[in-house]
Amino acid sequence: MDGPSGSGKSSVSRGVARALGLRYLDTGAMYRAMTWWMLQQEVDLADPAAVAARCGGPRIDVGTDPDGPTIHVDGLDVAGPIREAEVTGSVSVVAAVPEVRARLVALQREIIGAGDIVVEGRDIGTAVWPEAAVKVYLTASPEARARRRSAELAGSTVEAQQEAMARRDTLDSTRKTDPLSMADGAVELDTTPLSLEEVIGEVLRLVKE
Ligand code: ADP
Ligand code: CDP
Repeated sequence: MDGPSGSGKSSVSRGVARALGLRYLDTGAMYRAMTWWMLQQEVDLADPAAVAARCGGPRIDVGTDPDGPTIHVDGLDVAGPIREAEVTGSVSVVAAVPEVRARLVALQREIIGAGDIVVEGRDIGTAVWPEAAVKVYLTASPEARARRRSAELAGSTVEAQQEAMARRDTLDSTRKTDPLSMADGAVELDTTPLSLEEVIGEVLRLVKE
């Protein structure tokens, strides 16, 4: 499941994994965990060479239960801190560094290779696992995506969210290594007019086809 922020990847992937009794992997949480660690370590994020040199440092463990996904860095639970604004504002810069991607993609492939799973991110169908049995590219209008995100975050306006998302979309879709794009063979689903249940139903239908 690939797509931009707020298109519904996490909620839909978890719902589909639950319905099918599968594991679930949030690859965005791994990039967020790496970014959180870099900020803690005061690595200069404007210097890709410094980020590349340090990205082997943290141990990142992800739990794949759709009812309670977990994320730890060096044994510390970082599920809360990785959603904070500072990480959200920096993650696309860290994720653009090829060495970061190489390390996290290797980890992701190890987890995926262990058995059937629903995986969400930006490059799953294009780079991480192009042989996936079902590939879905979720989209939604920029307004709908911003409305959904600001409803989750106290004190954020739809306008500010839309601006921040547009900035991240640009970074994610213009980076040199595995930019966000629709994979060959992916089915595009515009979730703007659909409820969460309708999107999950549509994906389950694609799986059963
Ligand atoms: P992503 O993982 O792509 O960033 P999320 O799954 O986190 O997106 O969804 C963001 C928010 O929007 C969540 O609060 C979720 O419940 C809500 N949401 C997702 N899909 C829909 C939908 N089709 N209709 C209404 N709300 C949705
Ligand atoms: O939750 P949200 O959709 O806002 O973002 P996320 O899925 O947590 O991903 C955060 C960031 O990680 C993205 O904006 C990308 O910069 C990066 N990412 C990536 O490069 N590749 C992935 N497979 C997943 C996330």
